Amino acid sequence: MPQPPLIAVTGAYGYTGRYIAQRLLADGATVRTLTRNPPSASPFGDRVQTRPLDFTDPDSLADSLRGADTLYNTYWIRFARGNLDHDTAVRNSRSLIDAAVAAGVRRIVHISITGASPDSPLPYFRGKGLVENHIRDTSRQSSLSWAILRPTVIFGREDILINNIAWFLRRFPLFPIPGRGDYPVQPVYVDDVARLSVETASSEGNATLDAVGPETFTFKELVQLIGQTAGGRARPVPLPPPLVFAAARLMGLALRDVVLTRDEIAGLTAGHLASTDPPTATTRLSDWLRQHRPTLGRRYASELARHYRQTL
Ligand SMILES: NC(=O)c1ccc[n+]([C@@H]2O[C@H](COP(=O)([O-])OP(=O)(O)OC[C@H]3O[C@@H](n4cnc5c(N)ncnc54)[C@H](OP(=O)(O)O)[C@@H]3O)[C@@H](O)[C@H]2O)c1
Repeated sequence: MPQPPLIAVTGAYGYTGRYIAQRLLADGATVRTLTRNPPSASPFGDRVQTRPLDFTDPDSLADSLRGADTLYNTYWIRFARGNLDHDTAVRNSRSLIDAAVAAGVRRIVHISITGASPDSPLPYFRGKGLVENHIRDTSRQSSLSWAILRPTVIFGREDILINNIAWFLRRFPLFPIPGRGDYPVQPVYVDDVARLSVETASSEGNATLDAVGPETFTFKELVQLIGQTAGGRARPVPLPPPLVFAAARLMGLALRDVVLTRDEIAGLTAGHLASTDPPTATTRLSDWLRQHRPTLGRRYASELARHYRQTL
């Protein structure tokens, strides 16, 4: 009997990586994840092998990837905190990609973001652009093949942004909208991102593809839709972006979280969370919101709890 292929996924206990791992397991693959924080109880039982995601040890990274046919890379950080900023995340990503090449990985499926560009003034998008370029450059000097998938904002049960908009709308009378709220947002469902990832892994050749859902809203329409569906009473109030950032900081102090960064507001208002390409995903946010109305925004989802306080 042929052995099932070994596939590596960063962050299989996280958000998008978990959906990718689920699909790989369903396809019969052997899945290995690289992660900083293995949970005490794995959602996959013993079906996913766990290795450390230790960027300070390139040999151990390569050892963990040896034998893997494909690496799905979800690693990234939302914002700079402590001594981990986007420049460091770029260096870490390069180490991971180099380790994959050293280990003989055949293909990388790399999760990037719409609007990624090495020329972006925003560190998140600039860093993503630099990592994309590193993959392209590396493949010219090796046998590595690649697919780069660029999602917009990803929605799903474990998401932070859309859930927390609902959480705020349920609790407060007003909801601050940066600027006029007329910039586009085109959310994509997390399992559609996983499906596209798995599909691009098995296609031939190198490709960059936007992962975008079928519905485009202005940000104000998105907030109104979430409010109507979740039953929130808050009225959207357009405010200058710096005031929205100040309000987000105050809320962050109260919630012991980083609610929204200045750069995230800039990326949102610049229209980076939409694509000019045709939709590649099918799940409609409006349908999904209706199906998840009872749980939507019931609990606040904290980025710091998820990634900095090791609560897994
Ligand atoms: N979520 C979205 O709306 C969205 C939109 C567009 C693009 N993306 C991109 O899609 C990919 C997956 O996003 P996701 O939201 O699903 O991510 P996630 O599961 O929360 O995290 C993905 C990976 O990044 C690592 N990571 C996250 N925050 C970290 C931190 N502060 N310090 C060190 N490592 C950290 C995780 O490590 P551990 O496993 O060790 O926790 C995991 O390996 C990312 O590359 C992201 O840029 C996301």
